[in-house]
Amino acid sequence: MKKTRVLVLAGGQSEEHEVSIRSARSILEALPKDRFEVTSTVISREGRWLPAPESARALANGSAASGGALVLHEAATAEGYDVVFPVLHGPNGEDGTVQGMLKLAGIPCVGSGVLGSAVCMDKVMTKSVLAAHGFPQVAYRLVTRAEFSSKPEDAISKLAALGFPVFVKPANLGSSVGISKARNEVELRAALRLAFDLDRRVIVEAATRSKPREIEVGVLGNDSPMASPVGELTFDSEFYDYDTKYTAGKAEMHIPAKIPEAVSERARQMAIDAFKALDCAGLARVDFFYLDETGELFLNELNTMPGFTKTSMYPELLRAAGVDYSALVTKLVELALERR
Ligand SMILES: Nc1ncnc2c1ncn2[C@@H]1O[C@H](COP(=O)(O)OP(=O)(O)O)[C@@H](O)[C@H]1O
Ligand SMILES: [Mg+2]
Repeated sequence: MKKTRVLVLAGGQSEEHEVSIRSARSILEALPKDRFEVTSTVISREGRWLPAPESARALANGSAASGGALVLHEAATAEGYDVVFPVLHGPNGEDGTVQGMLKLAGIPCVGSGVLGSAVCMDKVMTKSVLAAHGFPQVAYRLVTRAEFSSKPEDAISKLAALGFPVFVKPANLGSSVGISKARNEVELRAALRLAFDLDRRVIVEAATRSKPREIEVGVLGNDSPMASPVGELTFDSEFYDYDTKYTAGKAEMHIPAKIPEAVSERARQMAIDAFKALDCAGLARVDFFYLDETGELFLNELNTMPGFTKTSMYPELLRAAGVDYSALVTKLVELALERR
């Protein structure tokens, strides 16, 4: 049997450049070599595609040096592959851009396509679609940089109507970069300035009434996806910020989450429904806030290319569902080919 030629794309322009390379290393190792011929291209922080020797060096070092070629000159690089596995997080990777380029080139791609990727990348778009479907969410408002700079007082009073504290987030980043919790108008202004340095679009959300429990579900499949058991993240910090996410030992994973069976079933069903509503494919990690006192469950976000190291939440959730890491990456490639 002819082997399936897989190109793994890693690195990229987001804060998760290094995480992506670690994930890619695990995936490269785990794809069964009797079935797959696997190559990897690392994308630099400047968005340039590194030639094979530099890519290999970047994989070994865990981060890319600058150099490489403009992506459009390199699009042909992807030719000759049966499928591309873009292990890329955040802007210019998880947001439909790479997916669109591969679609134009006629090459199947692991994970969601242009629409699902783009909508899930933008927190306001995600919430608007989910709201149209009636999913429970925290109250939120969109504010644009133009709106804030032309009429700051109008913007502030619109946002303050949510009540304090609020969470202020760039709409299109991830990894908690640029996210602040604001307790009053002074903090809100500072939080907005920080977020607008990073994005034209900012979402401001009412904080949940108390510190929520953070529960997550892994979804795997295309048109009839399955949901993993529910996992939970616990940590001491005030919220799940960048430092807590990426400092070893600051957060702990619990699978299955110790929550009532009925809540777990609700979360799993909601995860599948949201995956379909947002036109996701292949995989997604669906994140919720859960309030013990009231039993409320709020859908927070869908990550269409979640962290994928051997010890990341998504692969651990699927392992708990009986799909080990190697079977998981194999299945993801099969799902991409199935969508062709
Ligand atoms: N509305 C909210 N209420 C309570 N906590 C929140 C709220 N929004 C965000 N948080 C906290 O901030 C973290 C990061 O927010 P999130 O929207 O998941 O951003 P990212 O896409 O960067 O992961 C969450 O995991 C949670 O700890
Ligand atoms: Mg999150």
